[in-house]
Amino acid sequence: MVQKILMICLGNICRSPIAEVVMVETLAKAKMSDVEVDSAAIGSWHVGNRADPRAISTLKQHDLKCTHIVRQIRKQDFNEFDYIFGMDEENMSELRRLAPKDSKAELLMLGDFGLDKKNRIIEDPYYERGAEGFETAYQQCVVACAAFMKERLQK
Ligand code: 4NP
Repeated sequence: MVQKILMICLGNICRSPIAEVVMVETLAKAKMSDVEVDSAAIGSWHVGNRADPRAISTLKQHDLKCTHIVRQIRKQDFNEFDYIFGMDEENMSELRRLAPKDSKAELLMLGDFGLDKKNRIIEDPYYERGAEGFETAYQQCVVACAAFMKERLQK
């Protein structure tokens, strides 16, 4: 059975594209097939754009490629995906607000898997000057995606 995962953040140009690529890589390394991964935005500002250049270069430093084109979350996502992940508490409250009553998707915060309580928020690096926040987000995603896969996905 195919399991479907959707990574969400505010703009879909920084954190969720990184989370998408890292989850795909984590699954591939574990030879987990039958899992599909996508990402999307809460907001519409960047729809149609590529990820932030700092997200792309951070992934490139880890030999990973990001070709995602930004899209905004839509109502049917809540019934098409099994797991929808937010990156911070604001994402989570927006997801809960947008979810239809009969939503199939489980709404989860990515950092609740594998990360310490004090490190569970994947902070928005967009307004920071450099790319350091992107590397931090990447490292959080590596730990959280592996932990989620181990805890929740069936082979
Ligand atoms: P993201 O970062 O949610 O990690 O993609 C942001 C990108 C853009 C904006 C906010 C957050 N923005 O307001 O345009």
